[in-house]
Formats: sequence, structure tokens, C-alpha cells
Amino acid sequence: EKEKTLALIKPDGVSGNYTDGIKRMILESGFSILRETIVQLDEDKVANFYAEHSSRTFFSSLIKYMTSGPVLVMVLEKENAIADWRGLIGPTDARKAKITHPHSVRAMCGLDSEQNCIHGSDSSLSAQREMSFFFKEMSSGGGFDKD
Ligand code: CMP
Repeated sequence: EKEKTLALIKPDGVSGNYTDGIKRMILESGFSILRETIVQLDEDKVANFYAEHSSRTFFSSLIKYMTSGPVLVMVLEKENAIADWRGLIGPTDARKAKITHPHSVRAMCGLDSEQNCIHGSDSSLSAQREMSFFFKEMSSGGGFDKD
């Protein structure tokens, strides 16, 4: 059963010219890229996207980071896409990723636990929510597959 998930290259990934390298890793790992858009997020959008982290101490810093430049958002598809994409990006803290997951995306382009260059949905509920957040036509499940 094919699955879709959201991938988001954060401002440091885009400005650091990691986009091509990340896309190569995505395609070599068997994902198809179904949608792709570049957006400049504002504070409200980031606060909404990361609403579950609103009480964390790093929230205001996260908003500053995520609005610092454009992000590249993609919808990826393959079997087991959600878990496999989380595996490919590696642990949240890029410093840890460089040690424990040297071939991960975050090991390649991340800096620390905040500036980790890439995002992946952590569950099918998050994937659905995050895909419809950026791609309105994907909001009512089903319609997308059949068009
Ligand atoms: P992401 O996987 O996109 O989900 C939430 C983001 O918050 C995370 O990547 C990091 O960019 C950021 N984040 C998570 N933990 C921390 C932390 N301890 N300090 C600062 N930023 C963090």
C-alpha cells in the first residue's frame, strides 16, 4: 500500500544549496515527488504548522528560524513513506545524526537540534494535516488519488 508524506527543506537547507542533494537522496531511496512548491512562511503560518510545539522553550526561536528564508515543500510517495522518510532524515539533533546516522539527510546538511535542515511528518495524521496545509487540493482525502 503506497503512502504519502510531507517533506520540507528548511531555510538553512535551501540557502545552503542542499536542495539538489536532498532530492537525489529522495529519488535514490525510491520515493516519487508528487508535489513541490517553494514558499516564504510568515510567523502565523509557522505557529500554525508547529502548533503542537507552542509551549516549548524553543518555539519563538523556531519561528524566527523557519521565517528566515524560503522553504521547499514536497509530497513524497512510496510504500511505507512516512516511517521510511523519517528514517532517511535521521534524528532531530543533526549533531547526533552525524554520529549515529552518517548517511542521513540531517547528517549531510543539519547543524544542531534546531537548524536540522529538513522536516518529515511523524504519523499518518500529521502527514494528512501537513499535506493539506500546503496543498489545498489534498485536504479532502480521496480526491487527490482519483484526479
Ligand atoms: P522538526 O522535526 O521539523 O519538528 C520541530 C522542530 O523544532 C525540529 O524539527 C527542530 O527544528 C526544532 N526543535 C526541536 N527540538 C528542539 C530543541 N531542543 N531546540 C531547538 N529547536 C528544536
